[in-house]
Amino acid sequence: MTNNRRSFLKQAAVLTGAFSATSLFNQAHAEEWRKAEARISNLTPQQIAQDEDYWAIIQRAYSASTNIMILNNGGVSPSPIVVQEAVERYNQLSNQGPSYYMWRILDQGREPLREKLALLAGSSPEEIAVNRNATEALNTIIYGLDLKKGDEVIGTRQDYPHMRQAYLQRQAREGIVYKQLSFDFPIENDEQIVKAYADAITPKTKLIHVTHVINWVGQIMPVRKICDMAHVRGIEVIVDGAHSFGLLDFKIPDLNCDYFGTSLHKFLSAPIGSGMMWIKKEKIAKVWTLLCDDNPQSADIRKFENIGTRSFPIEQGIGEAVNFHNAIGSKRKEERIRYLKNYWASRVQKVPKVRLHTSLKPEYSCAICGVSIDGMTPQEVDNALFGKYKIHTTSIVIENIKCVRITPHVYTTIADMDKLVKAITEIAAGAKG
Ligand SMILES: Cc1ncc(COP(=O)(O)O)c(C=O)c1O
Repeated sequence: MTNNRRSFLKQAAVLTGAFSATSLFNQAHAEEWRKAEARISNLTPQQIAQDEDYWAIIQRAYSASTNIMILNNGGVSPSPIVVQEAVERYNQLSNQGPSYYMWRILDQGREPLREKLALLAGSSPEEIAVNRNATEALNTIIYGLDLKKGDEVIGTRQDYPHMRQAYLQRQAREGIVYKQLSFDFPIENDEQIVKAYADAITPKTKLIHVTHVINWVGQIMPVRKICDMAHVRGIEVIVDGAHSFGLLDFKIPDLNCDYFGTSLHKFLSAPIGSGMMWIKKEKIAKVWTLLCDDNPQSADIRKFENIGTRSFPIEQGIGEAVNFHNAIGSKRKEERIRYLKNYWASRVQKVPKVRLHTSLKPEYSCAICGVSIDGMTPQEVDNALFGKYKIHTTSIVIENIKCVRITPHVYTTIADMDKLVKAITEIAAGAKG
């Protein structure tokens, strides 16, 4: 059997998993998708990224608004219809008798879900905990590590506020020293970034916190290089992967980090309010639980899932989102979203008064790009995009960053990107700057 034939059959089998539900729409849609899959199976992910017929099928799998253009998928992403339907099904089932259907039936799905997430993460299921968001995953690790007065942690002013606040609380309460670097993004030089962390290390440094993709402007950080550098010096690394997991094609162990936390309701398109924690097997025992457990020093990752009554429909819906993601394929998804970002950003880059805050080189960005217009505040640009064009984005004013953040997703169309380019061009033409 040829490689292409083998990969088509594999992808077709994955597609079947993505449409386990039996509505007429799903059956027709799955058939349409299967045919498209056969047509594109010889193409590279970069070629598929530009195949509008293929992506039109993916777009139909979502129920995103056709009136308002949603370009803040970096904040939170919608789920495809199959995922929404699964959550509704599980919710109806739960309400037929919560303690029976949730605790005896749906609860059986957590171990298979762990395995499914582990496959996507490239790790052992014993290193994966399912939780409600990146904040919960990362705060659990940050508060759970034994750090004593004077121990130093290195992060940056461009890390996510919830993680910065957790370190600041430990600093105020326990006397750890939280050093925050500051980067002027975009930076197209890994060594410069790695050196900034390395230069801040002292004999008291115990931990480095790295945001894999900086949420404000989409800079991809050289996580692997930072981890390698830190480990040589006996320092552990926590990675905030809220914007990388389900978007970039990587396996967590390849980052060589010690701890990783992510949202699943961003690029994976899992139900809103879902997240995942990964801890290297041999480190689990030393991380205390944030919530209670009868053995908080156990080496079983499940100790972090003792969160009381939770939403089983949301949790179990994650599995459907993983099926859907796998049906597209990680690399294809990454390339498509990067293509959409480059499509609009490279066009507005040439427009007078428009500035990009993100590198367009593939190794430094994927979905997110920051843009600003001379003479306008980010809020004014955001208001203009929504007021006249009904394009929903988000304005970023934090530390040294001032821009509007634009984040497409797999359901974004090229026509949407053309409208965005036209809108930015017209707004810039009217700006005072
Ligand atoms: C880099 C980063 N980390 C963590 C979070 C928090 O994610 P969640 O809302 O899933 O807790 C976000 C949210 O946007 C983020 O951008």
